[in-house]
Amino acid sequence: MGSIQVDFKNPATTTLLELAKSRRTYYDLKAESPISDDAIEAIVQDSVLHVPSSFNTQTSRVVLLLKEEHRKVWDIAINAIEELVAAGQVPKEVFETQTKPKLNAFRAAYGTVLFFVDYDSLASIKEKFSLYADKFDPFAMESNAMTQYLVWVALESEGFGANLQHYNPLIDEQIQKTWGLPTSWKLDAQLVFGVSTTDPGEKTFTPLEGRLKVFGKSQ
Ligand SMILES: Cc1cc2nc3c(=O)[nH]c(=O)nc-3n(C[C@H](O)[C@H](O)[C@H](O)COP(=O)(O)O)c2cc1C
Repeated sequence: MGSIQVDFKNPATTTLLELAKSRRTYYDLKAESPISDDAIEAIVQDSVLHVPSSFNTQTSRVVLLLKEEHRKVWDIAINAIEELVAAGQVPKEVFETQTKPKLNAFRAAYGTVLFFVDYDSLASIKEKFSLYADKFDPFAMESNAMTQYLVWVALESEGFGANLQHYNPLIDEQIQKTWGLPTSWKLDAQLVFGVSTTDPGEKTFTPLEGRLKVFGKSQ
C-alpha cells in the first residue's frame, strides 16, 4: 500500500519488508507449533541480545512461557478479572460474554512471551548522565517495544499467528510470584502466539501523504 516499486541491492531487504508487511494481529490461535521449542527460544534469545537500547543499557527482560506455563498467565488474568467482578468493578455480564471468551482464546494458544523493563537497573546511568535522567525510562520502553516487534515478526515468519496484550498492571503481582521473578521487572506487554485458525481482520491504512515527508530526493 502506497509503496514505490524498487529493486533493492540486497534481496534480504525485500524479504525483511515483506515480513513487516505480513505481520498482523491474529486472535484465533490454537495450541500448536510449526517449529521446535528450541527454535522459539532462539527467536527470543536473538531478539533480547540484538535489539538496541539507549547507551546499550540492555533494560529489557523477557520470559518465554509455553503450553501449560503459558496457560497459567491467562488463568491469572481470568482470576484477576473475576475478582473485579466480585468487587462490582466489572459487570458480570460483560465479563461472561466478552472478557472471559477473549481471555480463553488467549489461553487456547501455544505460548506467551512476557516483556518487562528493569527500570531499577537504570539508577546508576541516570546519576551519571543527570541531564538525560528523565529520558532513560521512555528510552527503555522504546527498546522493549523494538524487542516485542522483532519477536512478533520472527514468530509470524515461522508460521505462527500472534497478538499483543496489556493486562498489566492487573496481573503483575501474580506473574512475579508464579515464576519467582525479580520485583524490579516491570511488566510491559504479553505477546500471545499459536497457529492461527482464521485470517486477520481487514486493515485500513491512513494515506502516507500527511504521514511521511521526503526532502532532497534525486529524480
Ligand atoms: C503498542 C501497541 C499496543 C497494542 N495493544 C494491544 C492490546 O492491548 N490488545 C490488542 O488486542 N491489540 C493490541 N495491539 C494491536 C493493534 O491493535 C494492532 O497491531 C493494530 O490494530 C494493527 O493491526 P495489525 O497488527 O493486524 O497490523 C497493540 C499494538 C501496538 C503496536
